[in-house]
Amino acid sequence: MRRADDPAPFGVYVHWPFCLSKCPYCDFNSHVRHGGVDQARYLAAFAREVAAMAARVPDRTVSSVFLGGGTPSLMAPDTVGGILDAIAKHWAVAPDVEVTLEANPTSVEATRFRGYRAAGVNRVSLGVQALDDASLKGLGRLHTAEEAMAAVAIARSVFERYSFDLIYARPGQTPAQWAAELNGAIDQAAEHLSLYQLTIEEGTPFHALHASGKLIMPDEATARTFYDMTQDICAARGLPPYEISNHARPGAECRHNLVYWRGHDYAGVGPGAHGRLDIDGVRHATATEKRPEVWLMRVEAHGHGLVTDDLLNCEERADEYLLMGLRLKEGIDPERYAALAGRTLDPARIALLRDEGAIAIASDGRLRVTQSGFPLLDAVVADLAA
Ligand SMILES: C[S@@+](CC[C@H](N)C(=O)[O-])C[C@H]1O[C@@H](n2cnc3c(N)ncnc32)[C@H](O)[C@@H]1O
Ligand code: SF4
Repeated sequence: MRRADDPAPFGVYVHWPFCLSKCPYCDFNSHVRHGGVDQARYLAAFAREVAAMAARVPDRTVSSVFLGGGTPSLMAPDTVGGILDAIAKHWAVAPDVEVTLEANPTSVEATRFRGYRAAGVNRVSLGVQALDDASLKGLGRLHTAEEAMAAVAIARSVFERYSFDLIYARPGQTPAQWAAELNGAIDQAAEHLSLYQLTIEEGTPFHALHASGKLIMPDEATARTFYDMTQDICAARGLPPYEISNHARPGAECRHNLVYWRGHDYAGVGPGAHGRLDIDGVRHATATEKRPEVWLMRVEAHGHGLVTDDLLNCEERADEYLLMGLRLKEGIDPERYAALAGRTLDPARIALLRDEGAIAIASDGRLRVTQSGFPLLDAVVADLAA
């Protein structure tokens, strides 16, 4: 719980862009390097970029760090420790800082968990994805279900907090199979689960298979059944949604992700990392070079890999607030929107969406998307922002 005198939340996102193999559904900035990766060289570059970011916003207190990827659990614990040391050297760090590392649940990676904890990580997020081997193979994963559950058990014994990810509405999966799988997963979950409906991303092998009719996705009605079932099962088992794909016991939400969705500031470090920084009252949207080796050379030459540093105008700030805030169960404060946009949301559109059951207004005035509105979130946001 934040006290009135606590500094505003401030997150640092660190992107590790390498994986052992590329999963056929994934369009994240992740790359396979069979020749290996020079971690010492990357660590030096991360430390330099942290210094450069901190020079722009020196007065922040870091409330969360998220090491995402790619596969950050391919980093040696010393590399992780070095990055966290650089962050602590250049910024104040809150005593209760949340430090999350995304890990793939293979047995090799689980052997590094204790090292990560010693380095300062206090939360892991494991990419379990499915609980049966045939589905894992279909998703191109390198771990079995048993290995993944063993990694979850190790995470439970090593970290104060852990979460894992599952992908549902997979090709060939029925809602009944998913209900059984989800209940099995909740038996192994502690305080947090991320549950993503499979999306077909352009440029991925799944996209090509889907386009040629070899990969059949659920129709809209079935997708909604999957979604509703997910919400109902999780809520009944004490893990209500706090965001469209994220479920937690109350108080156990991922604080770093809340920084994004509540529109606070965060620095993005590493190849292809995005950031949002308020500097002298102006909101900056930053992004670094995506290609790992080019990012590395840029940092070594200039001290940072920034390739985008856009200033957001009022309209853009307000649109981002809508887009991010409406993902959250708590929704948005229409007065904050009005203060950012310089205009109020259109009451006629609000009334229409409310009559359709897509949004609701709470007694404190907050506007939120309903469970039946969530599968149409993009359309709801577009409608409200128009
Ligand atoms: C950065 S990724 C992965 C972290 C880690 N490398 C792993 O694969 O376990 C974060 C999560 O996004 C989800 N994800 C990635 N691509 C997806 C897609 N096309 N559809 C649904 N979920 C996806 C997966 O659940 C994944 O764990
Ligand atoms: S899903 Fe994870 S392991 Fe697979 S390619 Fe994407 S980032 Fe890498």
